[in-house]
Amino acid sequence: MANIVDTYYQAKSSLREAVKTLRTNISFSSVEHEIQTIVVTSPSARLGKTTTASFLGVAYAETGKKVLLVDTDCRRPMLANVFRQRPQYGMLQVLYGEVTIEQAAEESRQSGLYIMDCGGKITNPVEFINSKRFSAFVSEARKKFDVVIFDTPPLGTFIEAALLAAQADGTLIVIQPGKVQSGTAKDIVDQLKKANAHILGVVFNNVVNAKSDGYYYYYRKGGKSEKKRERIGRTASSHLGVGSKKKGS
Ligand SMILES: Nc1ncnc2c1ncn2[C@@H]1O[C@H](COP(=O)(O)OP(=O)(O)OP(=O)(O)O)[C@@H](O)[C@H]1O
Ligand SMILES: [Mg+2]
Repeated sequence: MANIVDTYYQAKSSLREAVKTLRTNISFSSVEHEIQTIVVTSPSARLGKTTTASFLGVAYAETGKKVLLVDTDCRRPMLANVFRQRPQYGMLQVLYGEVTIEQAAEESRQSGLYIMDCGGKITNPVEFINSKRFSAFVSEARKKFDVVIFDTPPLGTFIEAALLAAQADGTLIVIQPGKVQSGTAKDIVDQLKKANAHILGVVFNNVVNAKSDGYYYYYRKGGKSEKKRERIGRTASSHLGVGSKKKGS
């Protein structure tokens, strides 16, 4: 498997356009406050959180921003794998005060994009995310990076993403139509709202156009929709759009 940065650049330009549209929509989603910390989550596993968080990180870094991508999925950390890197330290070592953020954040093949591994297993993730150390870590990361993106475990299974979302400026929900039951999607929106999370939108990943062997992403805002076909080699890669807040599904 290729490094995810290469996957992004080797993909057709329409994929990068889709990711950039997502980036732009996030920037315009709040007029009052700049969205600096972003949680990427989804109702269930394997819907494309890590892929979406990574592509978005590359897209932000492309604009010259200094970006930190943090793996908070400590049960199944995948970020270092997809970037084909082995950072020596991770978030846990930063939290325990063993190393600095700079020591744990490792620059990726994308200049300006730094990744941070989880750094080990956490016995009590809920306590951990709610700890003072964690919020101190988030505020320090905000000072040192322009954008901080958190890759998380699936929200339908683990509560951490909601707790994290409560501390972030915005949350993206990644879904794949057909793979997520509408009730489940609604449940996680409710869960996030209860946690006082600011939901930025829904990313439709890997949307397959049944009438062709290609793929398209779907972007919806303010009732208008736009479809773009996309195909990458023989296997599909991600096709992202961001919709307005999920309603009634
Ligand atoms: N649009 C896509 N087209 C093809 N493959 C995809 C697409 N999006 C993700 N994948 C693949 O699907 C798998 C799951 O994606 P990813 O790891 O991003 O999901 P995840 O939500 O982070 O999963 P997990 O819940 O296990 O953390 C990966 O092998 C990834 O390469
Ligand atoms: Mg993942």
